[in-house]
Amino acid sequence: MQTVFSGIQPSGMLTLGNYLGALKHFPPMQESSDCYFCIVDQHAITVPQDRLALRENIRSLTALYIAVGIDPKKSTLFIQSEVPAHAQLGWMMQCVAYIGELERMTQFKDKSTGKEAVSASLLTYPPLMAADILLYQTNVVPVGEDQKQHLELTRNLAERFNNKYNDIFTVPEVQIPKVGARIMSLDDPHKKMSKSDANAKSYISMLDDAKTIEKKIKSAVTDTEGTIRFDREEKPAVSNLLSIFSLCSHRSIEELEQAYEGIGYGHFKADLAEVVVATLAPIRERYEELIQSSELDAILDEGANKASRAAAKTLAKAERAMGLGRKRK
Ligand code: AQP
Repeated sequence: MQTVFSGIQPSGMLTLGNYLGALKHFPPMQESSDCYFCIVDQHAITVPQDRLALRENIRSLTALYIAVGIDPKKSTLFIQSEVPAHAQLGWMMQCVAYIGELERMTQFKDKSTGKEAVSASLLTYPPLMAADILLYQTNVVPVGEDQKQHLELTRNLAERFNNKYNDIFTVPEVQIPKVGARIMSLDDPHKKMSKSDANAKSYISMLDDAKTIEKKIKSAVTDTEGTIRFDREEKPAVSNLLSIFSLCSHRSIEELEQAYEGIGYGHFKADLAEVVVATLAPIRERYEELIQSSELDAILDEGANKASRAAAKTLAKAERAMGLGRKRK
C-alpha cells in the first residue's frame, strides 16, 4: 500500500483555491493508500501570526479536513507541532540543504521581497517540509502547482541524504491535478488565490456564505472583450473563472464556452456563483456541526499518537545514519 502525505498551513481560513488544488483530491486517496494529513502549524509561524487566531485556525482546519470527507478511521489527521520528530528531522534536513538552493525558492522570494524583517525560518521552510514528508516514507504528495518547486527540493534532499549517509528515505513523487492546480486571485489573475491575502475580495473562503460568494464573484475582474473563452495568455481572468466553473460543475471548459457563447459576463458570473455556492454549502454545513463538537480533540490525540509512532522509526534510522546520539556499550 502506498503512503500519501499532505500538509496545509492554518494561516487563515482555507480558500476555494486550497480546496480545488488540494483538499478535494484527498478523500478518494484514503480508499487505497495509507494517508497522513497534517496541519502544519510550524510552517504557519514562519510569518507573524496572531496567537489566538492561529489556535482557532488549527481547530477550523481540523474540522474542514473532516467536512470534506477525511475519515479519521482511515487516515491519520494530526498537528505538526504535536509530533516533535518533524522539528528534529527538519533540523537535520537543514544540515543537508544549501543556502543557495533555499534562496532560489520562489515562495521565499515572494514572501520576503520588500519586507524589512524576514525570519530565518522563511528561508528554512523547505527543509522542514522535506522532513514532514520523508518521516512517513511517503510515496505520493498531492499538492497544488505552487508547491512543485518545494517538492523537487524534497526529492533532492532525500537523494542527497541517501547517497551521503545511508539509504533511509523513500524519494516521493509529486501529484499535481491537471486542472485547478493553480486557482488565481479574483482581483489579479496573475497572482494565485491565497488565504493570507490582505484583500478578502481576492479569494473565496470555504466558509463564505452564499451572499458573500455572489458579491465576490460579481466584483471579480474580467476584461473588456465581453466573450467567454479560455485563453490563459490573452484572457487570464475569464480563463480562471472558467476553470473554477468547470471544476465546480463537472462540465468541460469547451462545453461551457459553447453554452455561454454570445452571453455577457453578468449572466455567466451569476451562474458561476450558483455552482460555487452548491459546491461549498454541504462542506459548510458539516463544518458547522463539527466545530461545536468535542470529537475533534480525540481525533487529533489519536492522530498525533499514530503519526509519532511512524515518525519515530524513520527519525531513529536517520539519526543513526548521521551519527547523532551515543554509542551504547
Ligand atoms: N490558489 C491555489 N490554487 C490551487 N492550489 C492551491 N494551494 C494553495 N493555493 C492554491 C494548495 O493548497 C495546499 C495547502 O497550501 P498551504 O496552506 O500549505 O500553503 P500555500 O500553498 O502557501 O497556500 P496559501 O493559501 O497561499 O497560504 P498562505 O497565504 O498562508 O501562503 C497546497 O497543496 C497548495 O499547493
